[in-house]
Amino acid sequence: MKQSTQILDVKIPQVPESKYSITIGRSILSELWPQIHCQWPKHSPFIVTDSELVKAGHLKTLVGSENVPTYVIDPAGETSKHIQTVVAIIETMEKYFMGRDSLIVALGGGTVGDIAGFAAAIFKRGVPVVQIPTTTVAQADSSVGGKTGVDSSVSKNAFGAFWQSEAVYIDVATLSTLDDRQYRGGLIESVKHAAIADADYFSFFEKNIDAICKKDISVLEQVAMTNCRIKAAVVGEDPTEKNKRRILNYGHTIGHAVESASGFKLLHGESVAIGMVAAGRIEAALGLVQDDRLKRIESLLEKLGVPTRIPAEIKKAHLVELLSTDKKAVGRWPRFVLLESLGTTLCKDGQWAHEVSRDIVEQCLDQVY
Ligand SMILES: NC(=O)c1ccc[n+]([C@@H]2O[C@H](COP(=O)([O-])OP(=O)(O)OC[C@H]3O[C@@H](n4cnc5c(N)ncnc54)[C@H](O)[C@@H]3O)[C@@H](O)[C@H]2O)c1
Ligand SMILES: [Zn+2]
Repeated sequence: MKQSTQILDVKIPQVPESKYSITIGRSILSELWPQIHCQWPKHSPFIVTDSELVKAGHLKTLVGSENVPTYVIDPAGETSKHIQTVVAIIETMEKYFMGRDSLIVALGGGTVGDIAGFAAAIFKRGVPVVQIPTTTVAQADSSVGGKTGVDSSVSKNAFGAFWQSEAVYIDVATLSTLDDRQYRGGLIESVKHAAIADADYFSFFEKNIDAICKKDISVLEQVAMTNCRIKAAVVGEDPTEKNKRRILNYGHTIGHAVESASGFKLLHGESVAIGMVAAGRIEAALGLVQDDRLKRIESLLEKLGVPTRIPAEIKKAHLVELLSTDKKAVGRWPRFVLLESLGTTLCKDGQWAHEVSRDIVEQCLDQVY
């Protein structure tokens, strides 16, 4: 591995067998395959990737001329994130006579990672999975934390399991081929990490925003490292989202409603950006804001070129309706993760998600149009 590679060890105290490392570097993809063979000599690798990754040349960079059993998800993206894809992956593995010694290697964004992780969780009652995330969402968020799953025709991630990876390898150079809108939208999870947990990281983001937008490789390595450190620390404390892990949902309650009301025309990250601005308004309405966080968060989001306002065609009544059916709603109204200050999430009476009345939420939604 190259000199510049950084390694972060993740431990989940409640799951003793769960200990893995996240390796972060630039242009390390071409060196990973021998390392994977070396680290799991008794396992048979099976790659899950998608058609865009193949087109971008990343599968070839990973395996070179070796003929490795592979399932290519096609079409790429969320439309393939359903149970039939998992069935097809598992049946392909069986056709290759793969057994309990299989090692699933997921090369791709969050969609590939979630599908492959879920297939790993259920194939022959569970085989190990290694993640090689290639999007800003996957490198900051989905590849760390062990949430896997696929959508049903009714809801997202309806089939799922917690299944921690054996290792995560992040090559920030793979982001160079990622579409600009996906790239910027995915960075919102990083802004969220900074907002909920690390004021210095937020300042770093502000200072380096131009370099980040230009995909400067050394800045991206630092971004990846800090994201994984923050996410791993939160997940380590609460692997199955009983309480503190909820802070990762900052901006997501209203964000999910906006995403769904847009008919998924807005990307997840773009919707969460709007959700973070709305959360900031709620904090202000509750008198929690003594700093300039709202201005700083909005300004950073604008520099990233993501929307910060609810599109006019989305009606407030529709959002309120969606909020009342939120899957985390208690008594038909969700709780909200809020900031105490920039970099610190509010915790009251041991709780990280808080009751906010419908009236206040509705007033705050009005301010985000
Ligand atoms: N498990 C978790 O904790 C978690 C967290 C966040 C999101 N998710 C899930 O992740 C999914 C979204 O993931 P995503 O935003 O990474 O999108 P994605 O995986 O669908 O990728 C977006 C598009 O970019 C392409 N792509 C990926 N990497 C590329 C690269 N390096 N170069 C060129 N093209 C590339 C893909 O083929 C796809 O067409 C959602 O299903 C979401 O539910 C899961
Ligand atoms: Zn998210």
